[in-house]
Amino acid sequence: MKNKTSIQGSWASRWIFILAATGSAVGLGNIWKFPYITGENGGGAFVLVYLVCILLVGIPIMMAEVFIGRRARKNPINALTDVAEESGSAKSWGLIGLMGMLSGVLIFSFYSVVGGWVLHYIKVMLTGEMNGISSDDAGAAFGALLADPATLLGWHTLFSIMTVVVVAAGINKGIETATRIMMPALFVLLILLLGYAMTTGGFAQGWNFMFEFDFSKLTWNAALIALGHSFFTLSLGMGTIMAYGSYMTKEASIGKTVLAIGALDTLVALVAGLAIFPIIFSNGMDPAAGPGLMFISLPVAFGQMPFGQLFGVLFFVLVGVAAWTSAISLLEPTVAFLVERFKMKRITASISLGIVVWGLGIACLGSFNFMSDVTLFGKNTFDFLDYITANIMLPLGGIMIALFAGWKVKDKFAQDELNLPSAVFKLWNFSMKFTAPIAVALVLYFLINPMK
Ligand code: PHE
Ligand code: NA
Repeated sequence: MKNKTSIQGSWASRWIFILAATGSAVGLGNIWKFPYITGENGGGAFVLVYLVCILLVGIPIMMAEVFIGRRARKNPINALTDVAEESGSAKSWGLIGLMGMLSGVLIFSFYSVVGGWVLHYIKVMLTGEMNGISSDDAGAAFGALLADPATLLGWHTLFSIMTVVVVAAGINKGIETATRIMMPALFVLLILLLGYAMTTGGFAQGWNFMFEFDFSKLTWNAALIALGHSFFTLSLGMGTIMAYGSYMTKEASIGKTVLAIGALDTLVALVAGLAIFPIIFSNGMDPAAGPGLMFISLPVAFGQMPFGQLFGVLFFVLVGVAAWTSAISLLEPTVAFLVERFKMKRITASISLGIVVWGLGIACLGSFNFMSDVTLFGKNTFDFLDYITANIMLPLGGIMIALFAGWKVKDKFAQDELNLPSAVFKLWNFSMKFTAPIAVALVLYFLINPMK
């Protein structure tokens, strides 16, 4: 293919690509969502299914996304179209990219609301109003936040602006610095929290909750959520990784790079779970408390530990940064598309998209207050968007990418990018053709037709 670099620029090195992609992957999905859905779905068996999905479905699909992006060096729609044409397939494969952009927009709208909660908690930690708080009061404080649309709107607006500013500045300036310094710091702080969790007396219970595989608790719905989350957490199925791949240098090994990203993301999620559940159990809280889990349990923990207020501020700042680098990556594919396809200025594209997602976000934050009686399929707007994006749109996008990479792209083109030892290539190819699509199809099928 003719394009040596994307018109958006390229990452300075392989290492920067790892940083940026890890910045996209590691986010609220790991620290907020993973623990709470593990709690809601009974723990161990759910975690095991999740790990299997990451390994057998997530990592191979991530490799496909990176190579398609890097081969074409364009936004996801045009990348898919170009790679399809090169292999003599229909240009309509580009439509996967279109659905991906829609997923990105919908995910952003609730992601930014949760990002706003994190900003609020930075403030609350700074003022010390939660020092020494009981778990009941922490629950009440979170409830009061959700009931207050004006406060939620303020934080959601701030989070949206922060994101749009970085996207408008382009891929090199903003994303790199934030990730390079903040990701390692976040990890250190999580380890510290883990250390604290070990002293609470709930550690064994927390550990067992996450790693005792009780399959009687596993339902098809839980399996779907585990599968969907493996896409969500690795930023797959919507073109983010494809867009980031289009800025990747030609020399870097896709296989090793993707493994590193997958491993880091998984590690952060597991450590977050191991830090949160012991605190939940030792304070007699409910692991199935839902989206408030992290926001209720951690302030209680920070309120009890030495230097808790300082660590609390630091922790929520770092989670905020993790959320921020992910939110940026939710907008990047669409902005790249608007710039490349409609010759828009990056800043115009970023702001226009920003206004759309900000508006949608208002419907999500309203779910907890003035719009709480608006429901779709029995879910409020926030839950509905979370559910259909993570559990339906991303897996569908992923299946399509796998089928495309496995059946439509000529092996020699795929191998030209992936450059894998031939046995590994065969495994990857098998996953694209069969394992990944069948896994997704099975889970979706049984969800719609529950087994008696
Ligand atoms: N992977 C991010 C997280 O775990 C969320 C995300 C999904 C980001 C899809 C980009 C694309 O928080
Ligand atoms: Na993640």
